[in-house]
Amino acid sequence: MSDPRIAILIPGKIHPRVLEKLGKLFDILTVETGRGPTIERETLSRVRGVACAGGLNAAWIDALPNLEVIANFGVGYDGIDVAHAASKGIVVTNTPDVLNDEVADTAIGLLLNTLRQMPRAENWLRAGNWKPGQSFPLSPFSMKGRHVGLFGLGRIGLEIAKRLEPFKVKISYHTRSRHKDVAYDYFPTLKEMAAAVDTIIAIVPKTAHTHRVIDAEILRLLGPDGVLINVGRGWSVDEDALIAALRDGKLGAAGLDVFYDEPVVPEGLLSLPNATLLPHIASASVPTRNAMADLVAENIIQWFTTGRPVTPVPETPPRSKG
Ligand code: DGY
Repeated sequence: MSDPRIAILIPGKIHPRVLEKLGKLFDILTVETGRGPTIERETLSRVRGVACAGGLNAAWIDALPNLEVIANFGVGYDGIDVAHAASKGIVVTNTPDVLNDEVADTAIGLLLNTLRQMPRAENWLRAGNWKPGQSFPLSPFSMKGRHVGLFGLGRIGLEIAKRLEPFKVKISYHTRSRHKDVAYDYFPTLKEMAAAVDTIIAIVPKTAHTHRVIDAEILRLLGPDGVLINVGRGWSVDEDALIAALRDGKLGAAGLDVFYDEPVVPEGLLSLPNATLLPHIASASVPTRNAMADLVAENIIQWFTTGRPVTPVPETPPRSKG
């Protein structure tokens, strides 16, 4: 299928494979990030699909009168005004499953690094500190004997839980409703889980229900030996409370791949030795990003060929074009 009359808009940067695949079939229009819909109206009216990595707001959606499909690069699609798209019958797709393993692997790596301080130990070695009679200080924390509470047990959360099992830690979880088919202990509230566990791994999306829910109280309940790992969204954490808890020893350590206002990382976090910080790399390997890019392209291609995108999000009917 090739139809150069169909224009696909790419606002901002996207993985080159998306451009390469879609460029063979459609007319690709690229615009800079942040630029509002100032393109001439006739061009905008030719746009029937959008492929994006940075989101799409209501103003953009309104400016594209013939838009049918928005394909998001990423499993989290909080950057897209999905409710607005749904109200106009526009389908939104995301990239689930293809990144589950990578994000789960990163979560385990981040947990181990946070507990055992491997990046700091390597930096110490590289700085020439390893001399006869000198050894890197013992890590204050260990994986051994931990009780890990998963905040979120979706597809990625389940993969994280599976990977935790061989570490012989106790595993619990909190989600809004109990999973009937898992044996881990369930806590109906985040607060109850925080009081019972010593480690929280957060893997929840950005929604109205998850805004800064990991607050001073939750961190206090985790306690001085407690550890917070976040591979979901920075939106879920009260960063000021986190900085205060880490600084004052009320929380033991934190490992963060995501931040409230990315790419801005608060100075208070950067200066804390008990914070392990990554630049939102959970899915950022060449093979996984290639798979995500292929799925973005495939969602657009399938929409225009069969009317059935591969991975539509649940909020945006119609799920099928015909
Ligand atoms: C996603 O896909 O939403 C992840 O945050 C990318 O790492």
